[in-house]
Amino acid sequence: MFPLSIRTCVQTLVIVALFSLSLAFDRKISSELNPGCESEKCSSDSTTLVHVQAIGSHDTVHQIWDFTKGIPTVIFAITGMAANLSIGWHGSQPDRFNWTEKPKYSFAVIFDKLYEYNDLKDVGYMTPDAPQHSYSLEDMEWSRTHVLFSDEEAELELKGRWGRHSEPRKDGFIGVKLDMLPYTDYALDLPHLVHSANSTLLDLALVGLGTRPGYNSSRFAWSTTVISTDAGAPSLDLTTRRSLDDEHTPGVFEIVELRTAESVSRGAGGFLQYRPVAYTSRGRGVASSTPAHHAPLNTTSIPAHSTASIYYDGKMARAQALVVSFGEPADGFYAKSNYTAWSLTVGYGVPPVEGFSLFVIIIISIGLGVPVLLALSGIVYVIARRRRNGARRFDNED
Ligand SMILES: *[C@@H]1O[C@H](CO)[C@@H](O)[C@H](O)[C@H]1NC(C)=O
Ligand SMILES: *[C@@H]1O[C@H](CO)[C@@H](O)[C@H](O)[C@H]1NC(C)=O
Ligand SMILES: *[C@@H]1O[C@H](CO)[C@@H](O)[C@H](O)[C@H]1NC(C)=O
Ligand SMILES: *[C@@H]1O[C@H](CO)[C@@H](O)[C@H](O)[C@H]1NC(C)=O
Ligand SMILES: *[C@@H]1O[C@H](CO)[C@@H](O)[C@H](O)[C@H]1NC(C)=O
Ligand SMILES: *[C@@H]1O[C@H](CO)[C@@H](O)[C@H](O)[C@H]1NC(C)=O
Repeated sequence: MFPLSIRTCVQTLVIVALFSLSLAFDRKISSELNPGCESEKCSSDSTTLVHVQAIGSHDTVHQIWDFTKGIPTVIFAITGMAANLSIGWHGSQPDRFNWTEKPKYSFAVIFDKLYEYNDLKDVGYMTPDAPQHSYSLEDMEWSRTHVLFSDEEAELELKGRWGRHSEPRKDGFIGVKLDMLPYTDYALDLPHLVHSANSTLLDLALVGLGTRPGYNSSRFAWSTTVISTDAGAPSLDLTTRRSLDDEHTPGVFEIVELRTAESVSRGAGGFLQYRPVAYTSRGRGVASSTPAHHAPLNTTSIPAHSTASIYYDGKMARAQALVVSFGEPADGFYAKSNYTAWSLTVGYGVPPVEGFSLFVIIIISIGLGVPVLLALSGIVYVIARRRRNGARRFDNED
């Protein structure tokens, strides 16, 4: 399209511009691992509860990232600036969440189940008549593989395996990555979701899981449970919207958003946002992308042995499950790659809307600007010429 050097040049400019913009943080973030836990186990890689605080000018967004009870859990709580959280522990598991000030709003997203279904008709998504099995994540054992906590980022990576006495899946693991920034940016990896100081980016990878005996057409599906405390408890709003362009996610023009009633009505609730795409290799690209399908929402309950059930104990909370499955006909099923990675963002407020990037704006401006400039200079030239000619004619007549 354009000579490579111009494109590189413009992209460098854009990156420099974005970088300088990004230095103005929207919130001040700080993160703490296993706060208040005195058990010896809390200093090992196998106990992970992170409290992230993002202090803004009017409020603080607290996040609790918990893996202590197997189920990956992200709890959001919005408080005033001075609220403190203290967590009580029973051994290496939290048993009490105490706030010095009642949070204004709270919601949570938990990944409590993984479905495996035998897609005999090879349709790509989970149908009620397909043989299926659900694995609870309660029995998972998580170990941290990477931690980065600074005032510019909170990043956490874990590997989860099923315990010795549960499911017969010995080889594989589930990889989870959480990433939070104090400013708005596109994720580095495809599908380049937008995340902000009010949200967290999550990557979930199913790596080498092996398939169920008797299933020859296995695919997997995540069950994501959203717990909301919105007044009146109307149900979650699930929409798929067309996006402006596929500049950030080639070939994917849709964005799926799940919002609580408070997010829809006042822009002050919880949301979940993703592109309906997953990747079947670590090197994410168009060639390794596969569709992600969702089923209609289903009302469910908060799993009894979960950190969410402790957090929402005695509160009016409702839980709804979103099941997202991956694959397309004739792709060779999960076993073709033994890898499926899916990304989403979970946040507070209004889901971000993608704008055109500076690069596209510059290209559009050049595209529109050059013809306009040419036309204008043409007009100016003609007018100037007429004037000169007119003047000369006048001179001659004189
Ligand atoms: C919260 O903690 C900070 C620092 O530990 C302390 O200065 C402040 O007084 C605490 N706030 C409340 C309401 O307890
Ligand atoms: C938690 O809160 C209760 C009452 O709200 C209080 O009695 C208790 O001491 C608090 N516990 C901690 C560890 O702060
Ligand atoms: C984050 O939330 C605050 C309100 O708590 C809002 O004013 C702000 O615009 C939000 N930022 C983004 C990037 O959504
Ligand atoms: C899977 O097994 C069923 C019979 O149980 C068979 O009809 C089907 O063709 C098999 N599919 C594949 C992809 O091997
Ligand atoms: C939704 O809930 C109903 C009633 O509990 C249940 O019969 C149905 O199987 C559920 N659907 C899914 C996809 O879990
Ligand atoms: C995926 O795993 C299955 C069984 O564990 C194995 O037979 C298959 O060759 C693997 N596929 C790839 C692409 O590694």
